[in-house]
Amino acid sequence: MQLERPEIIDLLKFHIEADCADILEDMPVDHFQPQPVQAQAAPHAEAPQRPTASIGMYEAAAPSLDAPAPVPPAASVSPVVPAVVAGEVSATVARNDTDAQAEQLAQNAKTLDELATALASFDGCGLKKTAKSTVFSDGITPSRVMIVGEAPGQDEDRTGKPFVGRSGQLLDAMMSAIGLSRAENMYIANVIAWRPPGNRAPSLDELDMCKPFIRRQIELAAPEIVVLVGGTSAKTLLETQTGITRLRGKWQTLNIGGREIPALPFLHPAYVLRRPETKIDVWEDLCALKQKLDATT
Ligand code: URA
Repeated sequence: MQLERPEIIDLLKFHIEADCADILEDMPVDHFQPQPVQAQAAPHAEAPQRPTASIGMYEAAAPSLDAPAPVPPAASVSPVVPAVVAGEVSATVARNDTDAQAEQLAQNAKTLDELATALASFDGCGLKKTAKSTVFSDGITPSRVMIVGEAPGQDEDRTGKPFVGRSGQLLDAMMSAIGLSRAENMYIANVIAWRPPGNRAPSLDELDMCKPFIRRQIELAAPEIVVLVGGTSAKTLLETQTGITRLRGKWQTLNIGGREIPALPFLHPAYVLRRPETKIDVWEDLCALKQKLDATT
């Protein structure tokens, strides 16, 4: 269907009024058309559940930019390399190159300012394409405590600072209860510096790709304690699949830059906003954090 310019403008206005302001995919998807039945790819042991899109009678897995192309069973592989396998191989090579580039950029940075510049120059993570800002950090360095969250949301993307929306305000209130604030003695970052479109969960590929940057950021910020806010942050940096509700409040160790850094998994304030009854757990974990800080003063 060919649209004239005024029609395109009207359509865009309609989308904005309907609050459809995020581009989720590279290409538009017409969900009113029957979707082709795809071969089921082998489930990745660690893969997070992809959200399902429910549109009228259709209930389909939301397409993911990172979903691996289905690989044909070994028996069906002919001497001529099928395009899908060739595509997988070149995608893997590209991923390896991107990972190596992220690692090198991160390691070459000798200061936090250099790291911020290096991260802003890194184009390997697709999230950067849809984000307005590279959200690097807020707060003071050096600080005894570094908070590491998941990824920026809409407010963070708009302002370029981590944890400034509703959950950020709750985080500030929680930390101020034990004398911590970003204006004085706390440093904040996220495992991912770009807002995932529509606030979807970052994919494992995106988390892996960005990990060298957050590890280097922790190394250069050199805090005494890292607070891992939310399951994504804890799972990524502790390399575990254990959920945050089981991990929270149990001291862990991060081995970064030759140092062993105590790390406290902590409930995400967005979760606490949805489940106010968990405030009791938050209070327990804040007390544990304060105790550790007092013990090492
Ligand atoms: N949630 C996060 O994990 N980080 C932010 O910066 C904002 C919301």
